Amino acid sequence: MIVCQCTGISDAEIHAAIDWMRAADPETLITPGKVYRALGRRPDCGGCLPLFLATMEGNANLEVPAGPPRLRLPQKDTGS
Ligand code: FES
Repeated sequence: MIVCQCTGISDAEIHAAIDWMRAADPETLITPGKVYRALGRRPDCGGCLPLFLATMEGNANLEVPAGPPRLRLPQKDTGS
């Protein structure tokens, strides 16, 4: 299904871009702008944004997966 009429982006392309970005960086925030960029296109009128976002929200890889908190290593005492 075509989601963006201006650029011809389909729902399958949006899902593929999200899956690719999540596989490349498990902690990245995925935005519509990043999806456009990943597909090599630029939005024009913006009329597709509600459907574009709804399509993105339907992808299980959109959210950053929860994981253990990052713990700081204790700082070494420099003795100064
Ligand atoms: S329909 Fe997507 S930018 Fe116009």
